[in-house]
Amino acid sequence: MYLDHSATSPALPEVVEAVREVLEHVHGNPASLHGMGLEAERVLERGRQVLAASLGADPSEVVFTSGGTEANNLAVFGTAWARHKPHVVVSAFEHSSILEPARRLREMGVEVDFAPVDPEGFVRTDALADLLRPHTALVSVVLVNNEVGTLQPLAEVAKLLDELQGRWGRRPLLHTDAVQAFQHVPFRVRDLRADLVTVSAHKLGGPKGVGALYVRKGVRLQPLLVGGDQERGLRGGTPNLPGIAGLAAAVRFWEREGERLRARLRELAARLRAELSELSGLRWNTPPDARRTAPHILNLSVPGLRGEVLVHRLEREGVYVSTGSACHSRRAHPSHVLLAMGRSEQEAISAVRVSLGPDTTEEDVAYAAEAFRVAVQDLRFLVPS
Ligand SMILES: Cc1ncc(COP(=O)(O)O)c(C=O)c1O
Repeated sequence: MYLDHSATSPALPEVVEAVREVLEHVHGNPASLHGMGLEAERVLERGRQVLAASLGADPSEVVFTSGGTEANNLAVFGTAWARHKPHVVVSAFEHSSILEPARRLREMGVEVDFAPVDPEGFVRTDALADLLRPHTALVSVVLVNNEVGTLQPLAEVAKLLDELQGRWGRRPLLHTDAVQAFQHVPFRVRDLRADLVTVSAHKLGGPKGVGALYVRKGVRLQPLLVGGDQERGLRGGTPNLPGIAGLAAAVRFWEREGERLRARLRELAARLRAELSELSGLRWNTPPDARRTAPHILNLSVPGLRGEVLVHRLEREGVYVSTGSACHSRRAHPSHVLLAMGRSEQEAISAVRVSLGPDTTEEDVAYAAEAFRVAVQDLRFLVPS
């Protein structure tokens, strides 16, 4: 029973088909001048159109990357390197592919600030406003936090930036990491008023190792990968054509099924939450408000137990969940997301994230809830403290 879709969601059948089709039949390089090159270019541009349409962007605003990590690095480094003495603000509970580039920039002498978050898991826009300067070049706030599933108040952040335009005649660029939000929370880039938006295929049932950065027309960025003028010079290297075809297939699937899936994910998560809430001594890290959370992520702490022990015990029952971000779940330290939300170390190391996907059923949820009860009772018996 796979309930770790936020780490990665299994490839959808039509994604497998699309990837296979390109691997088997499209052999050219999209940069080649001959017919096989043109055929490859058509696959590339079709993928770009599908993604752009779904984001509400122009195809020329899509830069394909090797995934969310690269797109986030491109947004942070690319903006800072293209400017003289930039100031960068990111929220304190971003994914590490934002936090780490921000820390590197600071080591290079760039002025960087980290905006605090509140105990419910939302960036504090009042504190963020205090950090803004006339030379702030970039503000990056995740759209849906990957560990606790909270939907960030991006409209409020965008409004703050608009006000700066009036006050200082310059509006910092707004980047949002929409890796966990894309297709799970409907949005259009223009409505978000974001200048840069990151997406990744494998959280949607697309292939791993492919994603994109939306770059609003007119935004100046320095590329990370140079040595080829692909992707309008913003990302050198032959594009991952099978991956891009797979990404497009996943997007088409969600465009067709998304409304129904989102409603179902919401309902199943509510059911799981209600069932688990019967267990004593839990602390929810995902707030209950459906309007301010993604439909597929639930995070809770079982103080007294270590998250990884619970994860392994649940695996014995055939239930796969995680302790938080997949990128760090093999390292034994408390989640920076939960610490930023003011949780104690004890609560942070006892956290477990359950994330649902298109194939999750009511039976899965009922079984997982029962497995959870059994596992927690068992472990509490072994570790009474
Ligand atoms: C919010 C967020 N940003 C970025 C990433 C990185 O994406 P990728 O795995 O495609 O590099 C992830 C993956 O876990 C994520 O959850």
